[in-house]
This record gives sequence, structure tokens and C-alpha cells, in this order.
Amino acid sequence: MPYGAQSRAVTPELGTVVQKLRDARNVLVLSGAGVSAESNIPTFRGEDGWWRSLNPAELATFAAFKRDPRLVWEWYDYRRGLIANASPNAGHRALAGLETPAREVFTVTQNVDDLHERAGSHQVVHIHGSIWEVICLKDGKTYEDRRVPLPGLPPTCACGGLLRPGVVWFGEALPATACAQVEDYFHKSWIDVALVIGTEATFSYIGDWALRAKRSGALLVEINPSPTVLTQYVDVKLEGKAGEILQEVKKGLSLNPGP
Ligand code: OAD
Repeated sequence: MPYGAQSRAVTPELGTVVQKLRDARNVLVLSGAGVSAESNIPTFRGEDGWWRSLNPAELATFAAFKRDPRLVWEWYDYRRGLIANASPNAGHRALAGLETPAREVFTVTQNVDDLHERAGSHQVVHIHGSIWEVICLKDGKTYEDRRVPLPGLPPTCACGGLLRPGVVWFGEALPATACAQVEDYFHKSWIDVALVIGTEATFSYIGDWALRAKRSGALLVEINPSPTVLTQYVDVKLEGKAGEILQEVKKGLSLNPGP
């Protein structure tokens, strides 16, 4: 039975995405905070992103850290607790399920959580760093620290230096290794489908990567309940929550494609 004959939620747009994914060999996923929203991790620009009446956009800066490292660490310690106790949602799981021996999925996430990996995704680049990493401001070393809560705030390194979270703050350069991995991917892959999910796409590099995939022939798809700066450029907009839509996509892929 062709996809759509059973499901009431299916739309022609969803059908197009399912058809294209079915034959795809390379899928690029550009994900943002909205993908983890259904795991109860607050987005940055949503109302729930505010913490103790502070705007995350003002906390996620080196200037804020220099002014009050303890306050900024309290916010990260709180987010580390949320992430440690969260589980991947249906959206993360459906994306991991897109990987098959014949279909490669490369995910570039702005999220500092590890929910894509915990859902089973194998190729994930964290373009804004990882909340589980810390960087010593004295000796420059980066290492993983998964303790929740951290025993003392702000945390310090064995060398006595102040530690900062291993994330990219506003105005900072992206990690060179992560950028090189994305560049390498673009050079060696023919992308069939690019899924932009749960992001405002306010950072120019996200829009650039999405449009670059489209220019090279990929079907550009946005999954988001709201319009974004990218919406006018996409081939298909699937309006709604990532978890719900990706589950529909997964259902579609598991059905017989028909004649
Ligand atoms: P934002 O918080 O700016 O935007 C979240 C997006 O997710 C919005 O477009 C929402 O409409 C959408 N959304 C909300 N719930 C959703 C759901 N259930 N399913 C799908 N989409 C949903 O997050 P990002 O665009 O990811 O960067 O930007 C976050 C980046 O900005 C962070 O990495 C951080 C931040 O400031 C830095 O710190 C450099």
C-alpha cells in the first residue's frame, strides 16, 4: 500500500520528503534547540529559555563569564542537570533510525547536549561545543567532566586555573576541527536531502550550509512549528514539532513504497 493511504496526518509535502529519503544515500541534518525541546530542554529564544529572569543570550558570552563566573556556571550547572536527566525523544530516535547501511546521515548540531548520540546517531558534529567539556583558562587544556552537580562553582582545574564550559559563546569563533569536518563532508558527499530542524537559523553559517546543500541538488526541508529566516528558501516546510513529524516520516519509510 502506498504511503499515505492509512495515515490521516500525511500531507503531499510529507510524502515528498519520504519519497526522497527512501532513495537518499546522503542526508545532512542541521539541528537546533527545537529538537531537544520535546526532551524538556528549554530552547534559547523561547520563553522557557529564561533562567532566574535572565536572558540566555546575555549569559552565553565571555563578558558575562568574566564579570560573574559563578553565576554563569550556576546556569550551566542547571542545564547540565536537565540534560543528564533528559532522554532522547522521538525526533532524536527517528533521526538515528534514518541511518542504514545504504543511507549515511551526517548531523551538524548547534546543541551542546548529547541526545543525538544517546539516541544512536553515529556522525554528529557539535558546532557550538559540548556542555560536558570544560576548558582551563590557565593551561588551555580541554577535558570531559560529566559530574552533576559540579562539586564547587566556579570549578577549577588541577593546575589551579579557572575552568569555563567547553561551549561556543556569542562572538566566539567556531571550533576549527568541527568546521573542518563539515567542510570535508561537503567536499566528499553528494547530499540528497538536507533537513533543518528546530533552529531559528539566525547564525549565518547555518543558513549558508543549508543553501549550499540545496544549490548542490539536495531537497532542502525545514521542520519547525514556526517560520524562520530560512523558510522562504526551503523546498519543503513541515510545520510542527520535530518529534511528531519525524515519527510520521519514520512511519512513511517503513511502509511499502507501492508500485
Ligand atoms: P533557538 O532557541 O533560537 O530556536 C529554537 C527553534 O526551535 C525555534 O525556531 C522554534 O520555533 C523551534 N522549536 C521549538 N520547539 C520545537 C519543536 N518541538 N520541534 C521543532 N522545532 C521547535 O535555538 P537555535 O536556533 O538552535 O548559540 O539557536 C540556538 C543557539 O543560539 C545556541 O546554540 C546558542 C544560542 O544562543 C550560542 O551560544 C553561540
